[in-house]
Amino acid sequence: MSRCIELGQKYIMNSYNRFPITISHGEGVYIYDDTGKKYLDMCAGIAVNALGYSHKGLRDALKEQVDKLLHISNLYYVPQQIETAKRLIENSIFDKVFFCNSGAEANEAALKLARKYGKSKGENKTKIITMHHSFHGRTYGALSATGQAKYQKSFMPIMEGFSYADYNDIDSLKALIDESTCAVLLEVIQGEGGIIPGNKAYLKEVQQFCHQYDALLIVDEVQTGIGRTGTLFAFENFDIQPDVITLAKALGGGVPIGAMLCNAKADVFVPADHASTFGGNPLATTAAQVVLDELITNNLLAHVKEMGAYLESELNKLKEAFSVITDVRGMGLMQGIALNIAPKDVVNKCIEKGMLVVGAGENVVRFVPPLIISKEQIDECISILKVALKEL
Ligand SMILES: Cc1ncc(COP(=O)(O)O)c(C=O)c1O
Repeated sequence: MSRCIELGQKYIMNSYNRFPITISHGEGVYIYDDTGKKYLDMCAGIAVNALGYSHKGLRDALKEQVDKLLHISNLYYVPQQIETAKRLIENSIFDKVFFCNSGAEANEAALKLARKYGKSKGENKTKIITMHHSFHGRTYGALSATGQAKYQKSFMPIMEGFSYADYNDIDSLKALIDESTCAVLLEVIQGEGGIIPGNKAYLKEVQQFCHQYDALLIVDEVQTGIGRTGTLFAFENFDIQPDVITLAKALGGGVPIGAMLCNAKADVFVPADHASTFGGNPLATTAAQVVLDELITNNLLAHVKEMGAYLESELNKLKEAFSVITDVRGMGLMQGIALNIAPKDVVNKCIEKGMLVVGAGENVVRFVPPLIISKEQIDECISILKVALKEL
């Protein structure tokens, strides 16, 4: 065991199952551990490092900002934050942004917004419906929204007022939604739940029910947003118009940042309703500007569409060749293979062969690489996967 791992086990709380790897640096879509071993990174810090590692534009912008100003309170106007908000609003259907630091925090903001919206219509309009197999984060509100008992059971009682519907089953939602519902919160592709895409007709019906009962439709785009599926936000692929979305992960390209976007109808916060000391600080929003410019202005979105389609078709070819792969699903550069063998074995074998992938749900291996990945690097991913599956 390396000294670093030994010290990590001694000093860091035991809340993660870690692989015995210590990463020292990265370049493009590759990362290197402290023994010099190179890995093709199909995990990207779990859908975070959109521009890969050591991206020159991102590095230069951050260095310049570090020399100018790291932090300033939200008691003042922050130009970098305003520029980022402008990009998000001008390229979306939304009107306002609230910045925070993570996905869970963005969802906390959305839950509070929903409750306030509901209360403006009636004191008891507080019910929030989320989905089984969803994942929204580990803080109490986000954990309560997460429709998976395994994450909640050691921490009961969770927040009250949540009901869980079966995903992609409109009757299940119909049975729960009523006048007391202030919001429906869902992912358009369930990520941690096992890369489960929503059905377009279903999502449109969910939207109709939200309109009927005057409930906000909130889409958690923490994993799917910021170009992952080939559009800036994944909901754009499903012909729906949510009232609120939440973002984090890829938004800062590796610098922690979260955001909640809402339309004018849902824009109900007033001063002191919600806040975050670090939310939208100059450093994080400088990073977000670079990521958004790469996606929107420098055609990275088109690249994701092309590479996503290629990855999906190559994974489908692999499915024909390997009976252990029972399904290939996802969108853009968010793909999963369902397996009838333990995904952990595949993940470990891939690591041995020099590639990082990550599990999702009970039986899925997930591919969420940096969005800059090339066709040749996807070919490399497929060859490593082939070798790994052959050896298992
Ligand atoms: C859909 C979704 N929402 C929320 C979160 C929580 O984000 P964070 O870990 O930044 O709090 C995640 C993390 O995986 C996620 O996938």
